[in-house]
Amino acid sequence: MTPIRRAAIAGTGSYVPERILSNAELERMVDTTDAWIMERTGIQERRIAGPEESTSTMAIIAARRACEDAGINPAEIELIIVATITPDYVFPATACLVQHAIGAKRAGGFDLEAACSGFVYAVNVAAGLITSGMYKNILVIGAETLSRLVNYQDRATCILFGDGAGAAVLTARENGSGVLHTSMRSEGEETQSMLIPAGGSRQPASPDTVARQLHTLHMDGKRVFKFATKIFVELVEEALTACGLQRDEVALVIPHQVNQRIIEAAVRKLEMPLEKFFVNLDRYGNTSAASVPIALDEARRAGLIHAGDHIITIAFGGGLTWASSVIRL
Ligand code: COA
Repeated sequence: MTPIRRAAIAGTGSYVPERILSNAELERMVDTTDAWIMERTGIQERRIAGPEESTSTMAIIAARRACEDAGINPAEIELIIVATITPDYVFPATACLVQHAIGAKRAGGFDLEAACSGFVYAVNVAAGLITSGMYKNILVIGAETLSRLVNYQDRATCILFGDGAGAAVLTARENGSGVLHTSMRSEGEETQSMLIPAGGSRQPASPDTVARQLHTLHMDGKRVFKFATKIFVELVEEALTACGLQRDEVALVIPHQVNQRIIEAAVRKLEMPLEKFFVNLDRYGNTSAASVPIALDEARRAGLIHAGDHIITIAFGGGLTWASSVIRL
């Protein structure tokens, strides 16, 4: 029988900035309390990029760590996909900045925008390219500097988000490991639920848009909360069914790090133990496209997942978009 070629995780890496923004500090910036933030979100602190940092600088560090972990020379990488909604520039792609900095001389690069679902989308795209035989080694990165686009006068959003980057090297393997199932969906009629209204071609930057804070993140928190809780459950159930996996055959679910209440509500409905869901949002908040790869890297380095394990990654966010992957390590 011909062995099946799949995209396996060869290595991971991540980076978060040193600067911590605590709930106590937010109490001094907006009308909020540590108790409110903890009760409604579970977030204790988040990381904020320094003045010299940007999405590419964090992505570069995560990428180097992932290549080192995979034992791969960046010159062997053929394609770099950076999932981000906070690129260094509108163009060129942040992936090109990473490609140059890490010395991936043979690699093409592009950015992928699916908001918080971006990294899972990017893994799924890379898996298709590897499985088809077109590519062997693809570097997938999720990196965000949301602190530059959050309005620190809006207490409903500024408490939620943080900065960071995570990366994974995907490589072709024929030993049974790799991406087994992918799902990518969107619901464009919900575009207004979460967006940055200005700065694009519809409402270009002007003194008026800047004065009205239209370059910052706007969100209907309640609407997104309901969507996320429902989609979380559906994504896990769909992934289990697609791969014929029982709940106890999943070593770890790595969900988008969004809100402890969203995770707990979904986990109750799924009737799975909370320990099967990796959580680090208490330390980093929601880092959008960086959240799943940072969590994946931390889970691997903490020894929570091992070769042969089945993991499910799920994410959802602006678009609205949602996505999942089932991966055998
Ligand atoms: N501190 C104190 N009070 C706050 C607050 C804050 N940081 N933010 C909002 N409030 C207030 C509201 O103004 C509101 O006051 P009111 O009743 O006087 O109008 C009250 O708290 C309740 O607001 P509500 O929006 O109903 O709270 P909530 O329980 O829905 O929690 C979120 C708000 C944002 C934490 C929650 O909706 C959420 O997490 N949504 C998902 C957002 C998300 O993760 N988006 C990214 C997805 S990828």
